[in-house]
Amino acid sequence: MGKGFQVVVVRDYDPNRDLRRVEELEKSCEVGSLVVDLMGDPLARIRQSPSFHMLVAEIGNEIVGMIRGTIKIVTRGGNALLDPRSKDDGVSPEISTTKLAFVSGLRVSTFYRRMGIGLKLVHRLEEWFRLNGAVYAYVQTENDNTASVKLFTEKSGYSKYRTPVFLVNPVFNHRVTVSRRVKIVKLDPSDAESLYRHRFSSTEFFPSDINSILTNKLSLGTFLALPRGSDYVSGYSPDPTGSWAVISIWNSKDVYRLQVQGTSRLKRTLAKTTRVLDGAFQFLKIPSFPNLFKPFAMHFLYGIGGEGPRAAEMVEALCSHAHNIARKSGCAVVAAEVACCEPLRVGIPHWKALSPEDLWCLKRLRDNDGVDWTKSTPGLSVFVDPREI
Ligand SMILES: CC(C)(COP(=O)(O)OP(=O)(O)OC[C@H]1O[C@@H](n2cnc3c(N)ncnc32)[C@H](O)[C@@H]1OP(=O)(O)O)[C@@H](O)C(=O)NCCC(=O)NCCS
Repeated sequence: MGKGFQVVVVRDYDPNRDLRRVEELEKSCEVGSLVVDLMGDPLARIRQSPSFHMLVAEIGNEIVGMIRGTIKIVTRGGNALLDPRSKDDGVSPEISTTKLAFVSGLRVSTFYRRMGIGLKLVHRLEEWFRLNGAVYAYVQTENDNTASVKLFTEKSGYSKYRTPVFLVNPVFNHRVTVSRRVKIVKLDPSDAESLYRHRFSSTEFFPSDINSILTNKLSLGTFLALPRGSDYVSGYSPDPTGSWAVISIWNSKDVYRLQVQGTSRLKRTLAKTTRVLDGAFQFLKIPSFPNLFKPFAMHFLYGIGGEGPRAAEMVEALCSHAHNIARKSGCAVVAAEVACCEPLRVGIPHWKALSPEDLWCLKRLRDNDGVDWTKSTPGLSVFVDPREI
């Protein structure tokens, strides 16, 4: 039988039956030049969200496609302040929230592409989103992933919505110096939560369950930076007249590994040489190229914010601190994602060659929401949920 006539069954993922075949499919599907190692648990990433679902597409005994989805409540863009309907959302009575679904991990086996399987998986996942009350769905993809961009924007009704930048910085063999002009304080999760709710809950995509992110076992802590010499009193917001910045660190290392494919032997050897030199002469602080050609781990910086004339300098100090934490735990890169106009972006060190352009696409699933979020103008910042990276 020609492959166009085979029956495709879409059903719920069953870990007992499907784990090995799903892992094989994931390893065979490059996204850009990256492959993902799910480390024996394809649900690990989505399980961190309040509501999640995974589907597989099967032909005979073969798993030929898969998709994952999550749902949570977030701050909607185009916020109509003082919206009376959002009293019990756990964020704040002044902020309009909405139920947002997230599409992730869409993969179709190379041999079965362009048969409509990807589209079928998206449609079936959207049925689950609607059944569970989601009002919008969004997907993150690389801007140059033509197949994915076309599938969502031309065939599934998603609009190109935001173009945040994914900033990747290598972790060197040497420790980096944290500015002496900056004091770094680790916040306890309840202080971190009140800071985020107080300062960021009107930022679009801010999750109403921020507390469960901050107390998740994958969250390695929230760090506040202040000018050296200033005081921080636990339970109080930083002085709004001074400069400060905050970041939180998420440990993706325990959930998945990534690997860059298709690099020439020459480039791999050159990269190794920089690492050897950096390891041997750490005082020279050589910017060595990490080993991305075998499965590597990442820390992700989220909840990046700050205020005041020295805020970008504070962010830079926090990123140096995060680099040293990642180095200690054996990560190869530290990544962050921010809105394209984010003013603090200048403080986030990254290598352009490692930093892909991202595209977020958004779809309205039902129109019982007064304002159409898909048509709202972008703010300066977005809140990037580490569970969705
Ligand atoms: C993206 C992917 C899931 C598409 O799966 P698929 O089953 O081949 O997609 P479909 O057959 O349902 O295609 C639906 C539409 O998407 C677009 N599309 C899919 N593949 C395309 C390609 N290679 N080039 C251009 N458009 C493409 C087309 O508009 C297509 O409709 P058409 O065939 O009528 O022209 C698959 O290519 C894949 O697994 N890629 C690697 C992983 C990845 O990038 N995932 C997306 C991350 S968000």
